[in-house]
Amino acid sequence: MDEIRILDFGSQYAQLIARRIREAHVYCELHPWDAPAELVLGPNVRGFVLSGGPASVYAPDAPQVPGYVLESGLPILGICYGMQALTAALGGVVAPTGEREYGPAELHTIARNPIIDEGRYKVWMSHGDRVEQPPEGFKVLASSDNSPAAFIGDTSRRYYGVQFHPEVHHTPQGAQFLKQFVIEVCGAKASWTPESIILESVRKIQEQVRDERVLAAVSGGVDSSVAAALVHKAVGEQLVSIFVDNGLLRAGEVRQVVQGFRKYLGIELVPVDAKDKFLSQLKSVVDPEEKRRVIGETFIRVFEEQALDLGRPPFLLQGTIYPDVVESQAADRSKVDRIKTHHNVGGLPADMQFKLVEPLRYLFKDEVRAVGEAMGLPKDLVWRQPFPGPGLAVRCLGEINAERLNRLRAADEIFNQELAESGLLILASGDGSMQGTSQAFAVLLPVHSVGVMGDQRTYQEAIALRAVTTDDFMTADWARLPHDLLARIANRIVNEVQGVNRVVYDITSKPPATIEWE
Ligand code: XMP
Repeated sequence: MDEIRILDFGSQYAQLIARRIREAHVYCELHPWDAPAELVLGPNVRGFVLSGGPASVYAPDAPQVPGYVLESGLPILGICYGMQALTAALGGVVAPTGEREYGPAELHTIARNPIIDEGRYKVWMSHGDRVEQPPEGFKVLASSDNSPAAFIGDTSRRYYGVQFHPEVHHTPQGAQFLKQFVIEVCGAKASWTPESIILESVRKIQEQVRDERVLAAVSGGVDSSVAAALVHKAVGEQLVSIFVDNGLLRAGEVRQVVQGFRKYLGIELVPVDAKDKFLSQLKSVVDPEEKRRVIGETFIRVFEEQALDLGRPPFLLQGTIYPDVVESQAADRSKVDRIKTHHNVGGLPADMQFKLVEPLRYLFKDEVRAVGEAMGLPKDLVWRQPFPGPGLAVRCLGEINAERLNRLRAADEIFNQELAESGLLILASGDGSMQGTSQAFAVLLPVHSVGVMGDQRTYQEAIALRAVTTDDFMTADWARLPHDLLARIANRIVNEVQGVNRVVYDITSKPPATIEWE
């Protein structure tokens, strides 16, 4: 399979470049710009994309185009900083524009080229420096008002640079430009499809696992379900799937997931009751990060106990997906502040006894869903709203105990029922084109407030309702739920849930808030 490599110079859009290329059905990987050549290069690599980045090329320690990229003889597309770094590396001139150019611009083509057809296009700019003089051999192929060299290229070496960002939606034809580069310039074949992903994954799993057993801890979410389905297809009964009831699940979840696996995947899920173990470990833990750590570690201990029954230490199936991998690569290198210890990467204890199988490690979420659908998983599972690994623990603010969890579970169930009945419990897109919620849940707050019920003073806890719309869960807006619906939900919660006398609706977007409260 033909592959493209994207080198990340610190762009907030680097993952989007990868997604656009994958959408063109070409496999690509994203690596930090200073990753070792042996990690990046490979026999199937057909070209490079250099991402944007915040630096200025002439600043001390500015990231450089690695020598192995220039020596490879393969096509290169530099985007924004990537274009400037390529220009500087090849002897052209980059200079500050005096002021930052940020926002929409109009691009008009000047010379024929294999990437952008003749015409005028809306593009998105975000830069301070610009190319003043392209390197020798390069021609200006398109301009905008503020960037005379908005698109440059050297067709004989197959080197190109764009000042704007083709990967963002604000450049409506940008996905097409990237596709032209990978298909026409790099000559990559568009062979990355759900069917080819399934074949390739099954082959890799068989090669890795051979005749050993695989322990899968399923969460009921789309990632672990698709991962389990792939391993089941690859090694059949060597897969042992468990569903750990950690006491932090939503109402009815164990039954739903066990039945769904039997019906759609023909996989027998073994439920493991670990409620007491998790709750005793979480006793008096109130710090959100500490909750995550304790839960991550307890999961592994439970898996280890289960694995003892399987003899030799088996493989452990992880539903890690590509954004987790990319984020942890970036976090390791730039030591950026971690907002939350997310997901599967980074949460595993150091003394872990397992070898990992991670069949989704190189897939984006939309690819995981496409694979799930191609494998015959039902739509309601494939499009299920996400539920965090630490479960209700990160929604039960303050102390975690059975009583408070029951309170939260009951309120959450009412919220979900009412949304489902109103047809709003669907994965809505974040651009407001679809009614609904991308994620909706209740949060139990660690505060008491005064109320009055039947002439009696109450002093009880509060529930916050959180419902958001988003495309990628990186940014989100609060869902504009109908007031009548909110009123009915609040009424039911206060009447039906013991110990709750107040309901509030969270109207902050992300950023500045996050989706979860912890
Ligand atoms: P935040 O709260 O960071 O959440 O805006 C973004 C998305 O990630 C989910 N989330 C988690 N998922 N383990 C997970 O597996 C976690 O610790 C975790 N924290 C947040 C959250 O539900 C939302 O979909």
